[in-house]
Amino acid sequence: MAIRIIREEGEEVLRKKAKEVGVIDERIVTLAEDMAETMYNEDGVGLAAPQVGILKRMVVIDVGEGLLTLINPKITQEDGEEIDIEGCLSVPDVVGEVKRPFKVTVEAKNLKGEDFVIEGEGLLARALCHEIDHLNGVLFIDRAEKIINKNEMKNNEKRQKSK
Ligand code: NI
Repeated sequence: MAIRIIREEGEEVLRKKAKEVGVIDERIVTLAEDMAETMYNEDGVGLAAPQVGILKRMVVIDVGEGLLTLINPKITQEDGEEIDIEGCLSVPDVVGEVKRPFKVTVEAKNLKGEDFVIEGEGLLARALCHEIDHLNGVLFIDRAEKIINKNEMKNNEKRQKSK
């Protein structure tokens, strides 16, 4: 396993549409393992292959309930909506308020090539939508209703603490 370099906003690869994964061979498995290691190394809750420069439809997610690896994920149902703060390892300086479905159903393949269905609510639904957006060249800043600079957030926290 290896930690891969995370691509940042401004790099073209983040704006391209990723291609479906065909045969799940050793290279795909290694990529999935590297993506997970890279995500954990950065304390992220999700990572999509284009974020490490690979235009394949693969994402890893861990919202604290264990590692999920999704190959060729597709959202098949969306329910409700929720606005919350969201960030991205490829957009390190800002977070944003983004409206997402409260619940989604996603179909994907696992690393054995088996189809599975996952339902997620709240943070998991948000992570699934965010990562699948990456596969279509979409970043959360495209959808955010409000963008907040991380430094400003820290300053506000300091101000509050010093009260
Ligand atoms: Ni992201």
